[in-house]
Amino acid sequence: MKDLISIIDVDKHVGETIKIGAWVADKSGKGKLQFLQLRDGTAFFQAVVFKPQLIEKYGEEVGLAKFEEIKHLSQETSVIVTGVVKEDTRSKFGFELDVTDLEVIGTSHDYPITPKEHGVEFLLDHRHLWLRSKKQQAIMMVRNEIIRATYEFFNKEGHIKIDTPILQASSAEDSTELFEIDYFGQPVYLSQTGQLYLEAAAMAYGKVFNFGPVFRAEKSKTRRHLTEFWMIEQEAAFQTHEESLDLQEAYVKYIIKGVLDYCQPSLEVLERDTTLLQKYVDEPFKRVRYDEVISILQEHENDEETVYEHIEAGDDLGAPHEAFISNYFGVPTFVMNYPTEIKAFYMKREPGNPSHVVCADLLAPEGYGEIIGGSEREVDYDVLTQVIKDWNLTEEEYTWYMDLRKFGSVPHSGFGLGLERAITFITGNEHIREAIPFPRMINRVRP
Ligand code: 4AD
Ligand code: MG
Repeated sequence: MKDLISIIDVDKHVGETIKIGAWVADKSGKGKLQFLQLRDGTAFFQAVVFKPQLIEKYGEEVGLAKFEEIKHLSQETSVIVTGVVKEDTRSKFGFELDVTDLEVIGTSHDYPITPKEHGVEFLLDHRHLWLRSKKQQAIMMVRNEIIRATYEFFNKEGHIKIDTPILQASSAEDSTELFEIDYFGQPVYLSQTGQLYLEAAAMAYGKVFNFGPVFRAEKSKTRRHLTEFWMIEQEAAFQTHEESLDLQEAYVKYIIKGVLDYCQPSLEVLERDTTLLQKYVDEPFKRVRYDEVISILQEHENDEETVYEHIEAGDDLGAPHEAFISNYFGVPTFVMNYPTEIKAFYMKREPGNPSHVVCADLLAPEGYGEIIGGSEREVDYDVLTQVIKDWNLTEEEYTWYMDLRKFGSVPHSGFGLGLERAITFITGNEHIREAIPFPRMINRVRP
């Protein structure tokens, strides 16, 4: 409705009478005063209702009736409130609305999510309503800013956005984690990554990026796994692995800075330590080889506080190992050159050391662990043909991919950032499930 003002914009209307379309998030007060906590999606805001003022304006009978109606408003009733914007340093927001009129738009009875504590399963069952709460709003604001900053960053860096297909006939990551669907009688899979298609696009357009949903039938029930999540992927022709790491570092700093610049109110609601976020923007990220990480982990495995299990060279890092390493360095850390065996088929073998690949995972500090996976891509036709055989991949499904190595192949690299992992880290949240509007996990596809 045209004449409604968003709560986020009320500071531009001090002294004016305005109308706000909102929901009653909470209510308190006694005697002649009622305080309404209003929310309209842009922010939360306090409206003050003063009985004598309504009586003065509408007369004894109508004024009293209005006050009584307001006094009995229930949680999540939708309203259009008219009032005068006042500066008020006592209110957290800095402003208040001095209510002169209120119209109920939609009633709300027995709203299930009350201001008291609720268990997380209950909240997830009511995710369609839980999204309205202050903390969830703050997280979605951060999510929105990261997406905004992502498009801005890659456009500034001369990339074009390529939308890669969701329905794919081949796999690019762990084939045991594919969701298979029946595509008119033949099996196809939901995308685990847009990477292979992005490589084709890089050969066509140079620097490209992709932002879309990906799906992994992860059987793991952890605080960092979703079965449906969103990935931001970058790929560029003639981009060395070193250059890719530089770009990843610049990109991650850029989104953190965006959140620091534009999401202060959300970071306050989330009680995020912003001095740490600022540190990640200011200080260089750490770069260490996988082999060195294994040595560090072995060296500290008997420390008193150590919670991870013994690890051997060749083993993949588990979440506790990643947590330790990310805390150890205190800044985002690239773990580079993993063993070939534990990484994806398309990664370039390290020159002179084919048991390792030219790749890196970026581990977020404070125990968050991997938020990016990236690598230089194998471009040697014969090596790649052999790998596809060795991995028992259906060769016919990769002939188009092999064409990229046949027709003007060039060195190229790229990476993928898991959006919800990044949000969980930047918001300082404990669990990935709150970083996406409607989480899908092994035991949850509703609502
Ligand atoms: O490390 P991954 O598997 O890398 C790729 O898919 C590459 N093809 C990307 C590329 O080079 N273009 O996944 C990338 C990121 C991980 O670092 C992690 O942040 C996130 O995706 N991720 C998940 N996030 C939530 N739930 C899951 N189950 C995830 N699996 C991976
Ligand atoms: Mg990975």
